Amino acid sequence: MKKGAIITPWEIEGKVDYARLIKEFGIQQMLNLPAVFNKELLFRRKIIFGQRDFGRILDAIKNRKKFAMMTGLMPSGKFHLGHMLLVQQMIFYQKLGAKLYIAVADLEAYNTRQKNLKELRNIAMEEYLSNYIALGLKSKNCEFYFQSERSNNAKKSNAYYRLASNFSRYATFNEFKAIYGEISPGKMNASLLQAADILHCQLPEFEGKPLPVLIPVGIDQDPHLRLARDISQRYKDYRFIPPSSTYNLFFPGLKGNGKMSSSDETSFIGMTDTEKEIENKIKKYAFSGGKDTIEEHRKQGGNPNIDVSFQYLKFFFEPDDKKLQKIYEDYKSGKLLTSELKAILIEKINSFLKKHQMKKKYVNKQVKKFLSKLD
Ligand code: TRP
Repeated sequence: MKKGAIITPWEIEGKVDYARLIKEFGIQQMLNLPAVFNKELLFRRKIIFGQRDFGRILDAIKNRKKFAMMTGLMPSGKFHLGHMLLVQQMIFYQKLGAKLYIAVADLEAYNTRQKNLKELRNIAMEEYLSNYIALGLKSKNCEFYFQSERSNNAKKSNAYYRLASNFSRYATFNEFKAIYGEISPGKMNASLLQAADILHCQLPEFEGKPLPVLIPVGIDQDPHLRLARDISQRYKDYRFIPPSSTYNLFFPGLKGNGKMSSSDETSFIGMTDTEKEIENKIKKYAFSGGKDTIEEHRKQGGNPNIDVSFQYLKFFFEPDDKKLQKIYEDYKSGKLLTSELKAILIEKINSFLKKHQMKKKYVNKQVKKFLSKLD
């Protein structure tokens, strides 16, 4: 996604860039959140930093009204640490009582990347769903479906595909160009289907009536959301509540630029990487905010704001705010060396992944449960 590529959150004091983007896209600052949100470090640490219409979701939570959280996954390759960002949010909202809708964007992948549907389905199950389950996602109150196969219930399926088709009447060519830059029929189709993903749960065949729906995304997905919002208000045959959205910072790739991506071996840490691989990758590739020599580092200190190892601790691996703050200060003052910071991270990731890989061995029964709900 072109829009994502111009975002460089890992420049010094990343806030500057995000402030500009918030303004450019018309995204709002995060609202004051009720106390339950403090439990999730992604909120506490402002990694989820912006929103549109999130007040509607907060109202639903406060008034114990039903709401849904919807997201989609591109079954493009290996599941890596960056994907966990969204999974944490799914689990958080599931625990809060949201109904979850998770779309495997296999038709989007079929049309925009050159893989066949069977291959894509396998990737979705083995890489994505299995890891979701090992991380704690439950099948209860969750509809996990494939764009290529919405439901075995014809009424539901018809309603979903009808929506995607009907939406073509309400979008313009220029809107598509703004989303994708270079547009093709496949991409056009994918963005209409994505709008249907986002809105269909409000239909009579699904949740029965309009309800607030939250789509948590990285900021690069915002053009999709703007399109879905606009279409939801132009659509003549049903009164949709426009979707709400929140925006999270990108999880940086090892080399510190952009977001972690499975297309570059030296940028990501996969869930199946071995202890040795992780140690090597972090030592060799993790971008450092430290100084060139130990003497200089001791004297001038490092910059944790651009240091990838520190960012990884902040996003996931050091949940204790006090400990994180101490690491921040020690690194900044020069007391903590880059090699020591990396050693902390290597230990944390390896002990996390060891447990995770164990859990992943036992997910098969759960996978079946998710798939048995395609009705
Ligand atoms: N386009 C999204 C991606 O590239 C996947 C997706 C499909 C999606 N449908 C969605 C995301 C609905 C959010 C909501 O990752």
